[in-house]
Amino acid sequence: MRAWELQGVGGSEELKLVDRPEPQPSFGQILVRVRAASLNFRDLIVMQGAYGRVSLPLVPLSDGAGEIAAIGEGVTQWKLGDGVAGTFFPHWLTGPSSAEKIKISLGGGSTNGMLAEYVLLDEEAAVRIPPHQTFEEAATMPCAALTAWNALIEQGNLKAGETVVIIGTGGVSLFGLQIAKWYGAKIIVLSSSDKKIDLAIALGADAGINYSQHPQWERKVVELTGGLGADHILEVGGAGTLAQSLRAARVGGHIAMIGILGGTASELRVTDILMNSLRINGIYVGSREMFERLNRAAIQHRLKPIIDQVFPLLEARAAYDYLKTQKHFGKIIISLA
Ligand SMILES: NC(=O)c1ccc[n+]([C@@H]2O[C@H](COP(=O)([O-])OP(=O)(O)OC[C@H]3O[C@@H](n4cnc5c(N)ncnc54)[C@H](OP(=O)(O)O)[C@@H]3O)[C@@H](O)[C@H]2O)c1
Repeated sequence: MRAWELQGVGGSEELKLVDRPEPQPSFGQILVRVRAASLNFRDLIVMQGAYGRVSLPLVPLSDGAGEIAAIGEGVTQWKLGDGVAGTFFPHWLTGPSSAEKIKISLGGGSTNGMLAEYVLLDEEAAVRIPPHQTFEEAATMPCAALTAWNALIEQGNLKAGETVVIIGTGGVSLFGLQIAKWYGAKIIVLSSSDKKIDLAIALGADAGINYSQHPQWERKVVELTGGLGADHILEVGGAGTLAQSLRAARVGGHIAMIGILGGTASELRVTDILMNSLRINGIYVGSREMFERLNRAAIQHRLKPIIDQVFPLLEARAAYDYLKTQKHFGKIIISLA
């Protein structure tokens, strides 16, 4: 079978297309014929060697979907041909996170990911894909969609009429927009591009702020919320935006701490947190149980993930390079059809 391997750390030239033996499922395992995989910003960090230690060679990517091609002995939940997506953390099935549950994740560390024609998974480490979604759409859900769902719904307890600030228009942020819309929230999107703001408004955002033109965007958020500040902030900017997010949130507001697009270390005014009783909540993707709840909601709302571009398997390097430009609006897919 064909697979891409990361054989060094650095740029996309470290990715090599290789021929690997087709794996056979052991007891309790399923073999998935992957039809589509999707990229996350995390996969760039893995490639650059900045996502912890990586055992090389590594098949990258946490996110993929396909159908079950073979079943090991003892498998009870699945039959041949079922459409599945892998789970980001194969051992985080239910309940709150723990060191043990998040020890391994697909496509990082020493655990091979989904950028291969056939992938072995424990039967517990997969979810059924929503029947209305294509494999390409379903491949976008395991990391970005689940992170946004966990942030806003599982941890955020989002209520109708609350205001959500979405930073940027990447994968997590656009799922945040779509999910917040289901719950009747008011959505303010920040972007470096007016064109992307227009696209986000067409998707249901209520207002947009160009953070390049308005570097003090937190003031605009406060203005747009009648002087109160936002109820929830999907904080994907990290060090680049956190200090401002603290000032854009309302008293008692919720900051879902998700990303590091603007770096990892920054200076903060601690009084912004304590005097405003802010709730800052670290989010790390989510469990299989949360993924199943997300998929039930996705079926109910007929969620169609926003896809920017689909690259054929042979052009995986170009897909990574495109993600690096940050020009995308929605998810980047690699097709293994
Ligand atoms: N904690 C978790 O479980 C988890 C899960 C998934 C992702 N993440 C993290 O969340 C972040 C987003 O991931 P993603 O895969 O959604 O990324 P992505 O698809 O690459 O999205 C990036 C977008 O964010 C905006 N952006 C880029 N740099 C920015 C900056 N310095 N400040 C503000 N906005 C910026 C840009 O939008 P515009 O062009 O519209 O400005 C860009 O297109 C990453 O840091 C990733 O590592 C964390």
